[in-house]
Amino acid sequence: MNAYNCVANDVKLGENVQLSKFINLYGCEIGDETKIGACVEIQKNASVGKHCKISSHTFICEGVVIEDNVFIGHGVMFINDSYPRATTAQGSLQTEADWKVERTVIKKGASIGSGATILPNTIVGENSIVGAGSVVTKDVPPNAIVAGNPAKVLRFIESTGKTADPDLVPFLDLVTPHLELEGELVDVFRHVLHTAGFVGGSMVEEFEKAFASFCDAGHCVAVSSGTDALRFALMAAGVQPGDVAITVPNTFIATTEAISQAGAFPEFVDIDERTSNMSVELLQQYLEEQCTRDSSGKLTSLRSGRQVTAIVPVHLYGQMADMDSILRLANKYGLVVIEDACQAHGAEYFSKDLDRWMKAGSMGRAAAFSFYPGKNLGACGEGGAVTTNDAELAGKVKMLRDHGQVKKYYHDMEGYNGRLDAIQAGLLNAKLPHLAKWNAQRRDRAAEYSRLFAGNKAISLPSEPSWSRCVYHLFVIRTSDRAGMLNHLKNAGIGTGIHYPIPLHLQKAYASLNYGEGAFPVSERVASEIISLPMFPQLTFRQQNRVAEEVLAFASKTLQTAGV
Ligand SMILES: Cc1ncc(COP(=O)(O)O)c(C=O)c1O
Repeated sequence: MNAYNCVANDVKLGENVQLSKFINLYGCEIGDETKIGACVEIQKNASVGKHCKISSHTFICEGVVIEDNVFIGHGVMFINDSYPRATTAQGSLQTEADWKVERTVIKKGASIGSGATILPNTIVGENSIVGAGSVVTKDVPPNAIVAGNPAKVLRFIESTGKTADPDLVPFLDLVTPHLELEGELVDVFRHVLHTAGFVGGSMVEEFEKAFASFCDAGHCVAVSSGTDALRFALMAAGVQPGDVAITVPNTFIATTEAISQAGAFPEFVDIDERTSNMSVELLQQYLEEQCTRDSSGKLTSLRSGRQVTAIVPVHLYGQMADMDSILRLANKYGLVVIEDACQAHGAEYFSKDLDRWMKAGSMGRAAAFSFYPGKNLGACGEGGAVTTNDAELAGKVKMLRDHGQVKKYYHDMEGYNGRLDAIQAGLLNAKLPHLAKWNAQRRDRAAEYSRLFAGNKAISLPSEPSWSRCVYHLFVIRTSDRAGMLNHLKNAGIGTGIHYPIPLHLQKAYASLNYGEGAFPVSERVASEIISLPMFPQLTFRQQNRVAEEVLAFASKTLQTAGV
């Protein structure tokens, strides 16, 4: 104790509390072994636990509870009334009776950086870290590192108390973007709970309007998944049971499942090696050489004897297929085009025929989108949508998703239970305004990968034709020693994926289609060489450099072995 300190008699000081100078304490409680720096004030009814360090010039007001082992930096400000006023409504100075003390709790082991301000009614979670100068406006989750004004979660600390190893790079980070929007997303849950509007309603309609506008499409009908979107789009476009829909073998099985669920059969054409999308030359060859056309224009597949009625180009990895050429062939052969845009929210294509950039979902008769959580626009569960410029088709999809109803209990046909939940629509509404920025961040990361790998002979990069603005749902490179590279990256703590390892025509599920090995050589070769690298909007440049360092280290070994 020293002469410059002012410690009131009602202060409960624990054992071995160390006080510096010019300290003002009254009515508070300080735990054992805690150290308090110069010029700190701690008010009545505040408490500080054991083994805390309170640095100089900090102000801890009434209502603040600081648990054990907490570090408080210099000049940290606590506030305990959300609406402080100097005077009453009558104009006289407010007294203590007018002051409304709200609680703030700093949980065990947390650290608050210098110059931070902690607003009232907040809980700063156990072992969390608040960056210097941050303004904490809402609860900080345990083990989170937050910073900024208002403070947002940057990342989490491992439960051992150490920060996550910065050398580990996840394939996808789905936590950070949701925490960044935590307040808005929680508001959606709260609104739905308070109104019990779980199915249909204004949230779904608002999302449909906003997403149609985002896609430059006339209509959007929200459904329960991308698979249902594709199935309903095919059915509403008039694809009949027994028909053939042409697609590619290097897609997720949902593309062909939807075709089968619509009662049709998939037949494949191979891909263009440069874009990984449907080869227009091979599509033309299929239509000219593997089909016959009768005098009424009916197109029949020679391999199955079935009528061909649809093309389903897949905008794989976020890049649109060559839509002008596909639409020209479709017009010539009387086929409907349903875009599988499940990986391509916001992707663009320069249409020479229309002389303008067109969005995915606006060019075919209809398009299907998936809002599976990892997609560029993902729900917090399942979701999908059909977009179209055809009002009648949109009306049919609305019936299909809702038991064939035109209005409640009036069923013009049998349909499905394929609606999007109101909660998911609300969450998608909250996320949609950020999609253009997130897509731009993905494009920046893709450009950076391309710069880092430029000229390396062991790596093939994805190619983006001048008519394409890819939104890089995935960033997929190719390399000859794929197994070796995957193993190297795994050991280096870098997440990867393979999209997709076995082309659909070689899957057991499609044995009955009777395609053998060698039927689609480009898809087969590419499937054995592809690796999807970490790609998400919040991927940091440090993480990206780390990925590049390891990819290049393995690539140089490959080149040495090959004597290049
Ligand atoms: C190309 C493609 N088509 C269709 C789908 C199906 O979407 P969902 O999972 O929402 O049913 C997906 C989703 O992964 C996809 O990537």
